[in-house]
This record gives sequence, structure tokens and C-alpha cells, in this order.
Amino acid sequence: MNNKSKIRIRPVGKADLLEWLVMRRALWPDCPTKKHREEIAEILADRNDQPAWVAESPDGDLMGFLEASVRNYADGAGRQNVGYLEGWYVKPKYRKQGVGRVLVNEAEDWAVSRGFSHVGSDTWVGNMSSYRAHKAMGYREAGRDVHFVKKIKTKSKK
Ligand SMILES: CC(C)(COP(=O)(O)OP(=O)(O)OC[C@H]1O[C@@H](n2cnc3c(N)ncnc32)[C@H](O)[C@@H]1OP(=O)(O)O)[C@@H](O)C(=O)NCCC(=O)NCCS
Repeated sequence: MNNKSKIRIRPVGKADLLEWLVMRRALWPDCPTKKHREEIAEILADRNDQPAWVAESPDGDLMGFLEASVRNYADGAGRQNVGYLEGWYVKPKYRKQGVGRVLVNEAEDWAVSRGFSHVGSDTWVGNMSSYRAHKAMGYREAGRDVHFVKKIKTKSKK
């Protein structure tokens, strides 16, 4: 699979639910299945502002997916509506063959069609393949977050 013209990008459909869930679980393994299902239902009910696409091979295999959204802020773009890459995943055997790029191009076309001037995205520190792929696609680093958490005493239930 190395011919980009053979990669078919289409909006995710109800027939893709199982495979989409499998790919989502590979991307976000810490997310409970129930939460995945809720988010999938939410996305399918809001295609305008939460579009999602799958990349399909000529023999009908799903190679990856991309979920986007409208956010009202992105680091580096300021407080304005932007397209945002929420979930970007290509199955390992299809990586480095242009599938991810075609998915992102689709999301960028959608953002242009919505009149947005920027597309934002993020990844976790240490995800170097994602970092390098973003850079290769023309995304510049716009900031880094540090997350904190503190375990607090819980009230004993009466
Ligand atoms: C990130 C990911 C979606 C990229 O998908 P992909 O199909 O391999 O991407 P492509 O083949 O279209 O590559 C797009 C560009 O990024 C570059 N790239 C992709 N992976 C790379 C890597 N590991 N190191 C360096 N560059 C890389 C490619 O060379 C290409 O640039 P080029 O066209 O100038 O050569 C895929 O690696 C993946 O699913 N990773 C695991 C999940 C993940 O981290 N998702 C992103 C979370 S934000």
C-alpha cells in the first residue's frame, strides 16, 4: 500500500463502528470502552462540528481514522474558532505510507471550508513519531503543558 491515490478517505459511517472502536482503543488505551462508545455516539450526532473520517484501502480495510472538532482557542492561534485534530491514528502496518497525511489534508480542507484560519493539534510529550509527523505536515510547536494532580482525602460515606 504505497500509492496515495489508492487511499480512500470518507466520513466515518455506522458500518465502521466496531473497527473505529478498535482503532480508538489502540490510540487511547486508558479510556474505558463505555466512554469510547459515548464519544462515538456524540461524534455521530454532531457531524458538522465534530467530523471524523476513515482511510480505506482498495480491499476495504480501514487503515486509520481522524477525528476533528471546532475549538474556540488554540495555542498559537489565540481566541478564535479553529479546526482541531482530536484523534489521529493509522494502524502500524500502514504507517509511513502517506495515510496520515491524506487524513490531515482532509481535515484541513474541512477547516478551510468552515472559514477557519488555523488548525490546532496536540500530542503527549515523548510521542516523537507524532511530533515528527506533525512537523513534517507543517505544524509548528506552539506550547507545552504541564499537568498536576494531588490525591486528596475523601469524605467517608455515611
Ligand atoms: C502519527 C501517525 C498518525 C502518522 O501516520 P502515518 O500514516 O504514518 O503518516 P504519513 O505516512 O502520512 O506521514 C506524514 C508525514 O510525517 C512523517 N512521519 C510520519 N511518521 C514519522 C516518524 N515516525 N518519524 C518521522 N517522520 C514521520 C512522514 O515522513 C510524512 O512526511 P513526508 O510526507 O514529508 O515524508 C501514526 O504514526 C500513528 O498512528 N501513530 C500512533 C498514534 C499517534 O501517535 N497519533 C497522534 C496522536 S496526536
